[in-house]
Amino acid sequence: MTLVISQLHAQETLDSRGNPTVAVVLYAESGLTVAAGVPAGASTGSREAVEIRDGDPDRYHGAGVLGAVRNVAGEIADSLVGVPFSSLDEVDQRLLDLDGSGNKSRLGANAVAGVSMAAAKAFAVEQKEPLWLSLAGAHVVPRLPVPHFNVINGGRHAGNGLPFQEFMIAPLGAPSVADAVRAGAEVYAALRGVLAERGFSTGLGDEGGFAPTFSRPEEALAELVKAIGSAGYKPSRDEVAIAIDPAASEFYADGRYQIGDQSFTSSDMIEMYSTMLDDFPIWSIEDGLAESDDAGWRAMTDQLGDRVQLVGDDNFVTNPAIIADAVVDGIANAALIKVNQVGTVTETLMALDVCRRSNYGAMISHRSGETTDSFIADLAVGAGTGQIKAGAPARGERIAKYNRLISIEQANPALAYGLPESQRRP
Ligand code: PGA
Ligand code: ZN
Repeated sequence: MTLVISQLHAQETLDSRGNPTVAVVLYAESGLTVAAGVPAGASTGSREAVEIRDGDPDRYHGAGVLGAVRNVAGEIADSLVGVPFSSLDEVDQRLLDLDGSGNKSRLGANAVAGVSMAAAKAFAVEQKEPLWLSLAGAHVVPRLPVPHFNVINGGRHAGNGLPFQEFMIAPLGAPSVADAVRAGAEVYAALRGVLAERGFSTGLGDEGGFAPTFSRPEEALAELVKAIGSAGYKPSRDEVAIAIDPAASEFYADGRYQIGDQSFTSSDMIEMYSTMLDDFPIWSIEDGLAESDDAGWRAMTDQLGDRVQLVGDDNFVTNPAIIADAVVDGIANAALIKVNQVGTVTETLMALDVCRRSNYGAMISHRSGETTDSFIADLAVGAGTGQIKAGAPARGERIAKYNRLISIEQANPALAYGLPESQRRP
């Protein structure tokens, strides 16, 4: 099977925050057409692949992406069009060679990721396979993931003063994706009622979760537990659990974590999480400490790693080499996986491979700025890791992913749902 690209088209479109982003359309000689939309983060890791923005103050306050668009239709198209490719790996390798910067900063991670995602889709079509199956490697058993619905937003994704960025509900005990989505939507609706009753705003943050003016994370956790119960579910690690992403790099400075008017050390933070694990059914903590706080991460992994999933996001940036080092270092026991954070689908699959070989969990993730492209739903099923986060069960760009999972499940009733036994913690 070979893919011969006949034309690469790109344009500047808008993401869910109203910021410009790159959309790619790939035409192949076989007659197929596929499209991909590139998401964008707000709380980014310092070692992420670098997206390029025009910096022209007269357009989108400098955030335009016409340069990245030109790179797709120009230099990248010149290098890829007409070449017979027999695997995605070959396409991505050519993109890496062409860029030459090591971090995609020359052509732009937004240009490179868009082309790589489109090429992955094109290979699936050429192979007459669904995307999820074509993304599953030889050693992977595809699986429908537990959706992690971010129903309370804080940090950089909301202006509510809540220091922790994400409070998610995870229907670990649901029998299917369709039931998990229903649980997510029911708890979300119940939470709206719980918040309104207490006089809190039910306005939304960037990922579609509510953004009430809580200042303490424990307040958000308590309301979540209430909402899970009032929707008729058991708040527990076996039924509807909680996952959090404090995104701690965002409130870390000079070796201290600033929460409200209090300042904490790494060991204070670990202590705080330990108490939260006693008090709430939290099964996963992402970026509990800052990306540069390696010693803190080692201590946290040591002390909490057998009680809870500890996910590295800002510190790992979906980079297979960084994750491999962290495994040796005893940092975290899971990784967040975002295609545009590393820049190509092939490197994303390599990061997943490192996680699999190291028995690290892997949660496939959207970005806070999204498009309606549901690529990550297929990636999550193909990765077989049993976990995805794609925001609240509301807003088109978020539900595009959840609805795609429901469709995959409908068409493939033999696929298993949920977290594999090996990833349950404890
Ligand atoms: P971002 O945040 O998409 O704004 O970078 C998501 C996350 O921290 O997981
Ligand atoms: Zn994160």
